[in-house]
Amino acid sequence: MTYRNPNAPEDAFLETFAGAMALELGMRRGLLDRIALDGAVPIDQVNLRAEAAFFPVLLQRAGIVEQVVDTLKLTDEFAGIWPHRRAALAHKLRFLKAVSVDLAMGMSDLVGDLPKFMKHAHTFDIFDYGKSMNTDPAALEATQIWCDYVAILTETEAPEIVAALDLDPGARVLEIGGNVGVMGAAIMTAFGAEVTVLDLPAVCTLGQRRNAERASGARPSFVMGDARDGEWDELPGAPWDAVMFKSVLHDWPEADRLKLLDHAVAALAPGGHVIVAERGPLQATGPLPFWLTADLVFAPFYQPAEWYADALAARGCNVVQSAPDLGLPFHITVGTKT
Ligand SMILES: C[S@@+](CC[C@H](N)C(=O)[O-])C[C@H]1O[C@@H](n2cnc3c(N)ncnc32)[C@H](O)[C@@H]1O
Repeated sequence: MTYRNPNAPEDAFLETFAGAMALELGMRRGLLDRIALDGAVPIDQVNLRAEAAFFPVLLQRAGIVEQVVDTLKLTDEFAGIWPHRRAALAHKLRFLKAVSVDLAMGMSDLVGDLPKFMKHAHTFDIFDYGKSMNTDPAALEATQIWCDYVAILTETEAPEIVAALDLDPGARVLEIGGNVGVMGAAIMTAFGAEVTVLDLPAVCTLGQRRNAERASGARPSFVMGDARDGEWDELPGAPWDAVMFKSVLHDWPEADRLKLLDHAVAALAPGGHVIVAERGPLQATGPLPFWLTADLVFAPFYQPAEWYADALAARGCNVVQSAPDLGLPFHITVGTKT
């Protein structure tokens, strides 16, 4: 099985560690911009020391540049994605660098002592929700870093998730941990639904800014709060036709996951839907490309689809599941309250 998200063509250039690190340096030094601008750059003008002749070779082997006589040019494949996927590449590479250090230094803890791994991991330092509890400039700056990364991933996942859902026009959807509203905006656009995102204060402020220019029919509302408090039927925008969790429940220990599902079911009238969209456990087939190591630090938390099916069935829901083609293990569970 080859893992690849059809909406994330940049992943093809993040297949190997060495190629990705060369790409990151080429971006940071402006080399790729220069080649893109000039069409072709003579190799002797790339300002590399003689002993660094291996560097363009790494870019060549990653399919990013090719040598034409004594010049370097972007490959057609890379030139085709560079203008519109460069931000995605930058955010993914920043996260992959942190993951690489964490895995190199902490693989034994990831496998044997998860709390210790999480205490020392750069990745969990980036994803520190504790820094998102207010809206002061420091909180917004810290929150922006991981929200940008999450938003890039969700932009590429939302089209396939939307295709697997069925919501009525005007449906009122509460999205728990909906981040800066990428999924919510996609749902509004696809179904003419109304989406309210409940998330942490700094995240909501960034979400409001991000969506400020959108038309009102595609602009989610944001409610600052702590999802664990429950009583979601009292939030502005209620009553809800659906409560959605996308890539949220795996963040929580089992007892909290079950409590959040209790809150969701309690907030719905019969016929309402609980929608869970989550990555699943790593599968034992196919090569593991470098870009997918980004998910390895979260691998201990991903549950099989059956866990969500059982939890929702136990809460009196009729359950329907699907697995969209996102190029990695991913499942969608819709529980309809009876
Ligand atoms: C892994 S992110 C997923 C974001 C989004 N659903 C997506 O897939 O793009 C988890 C989200 O849960 C939010 N979150 C964490 N703790 C929360 C809490 N106690 N109450 C509400 N939201 C919370 C985070 O701020 C973040 O936006």
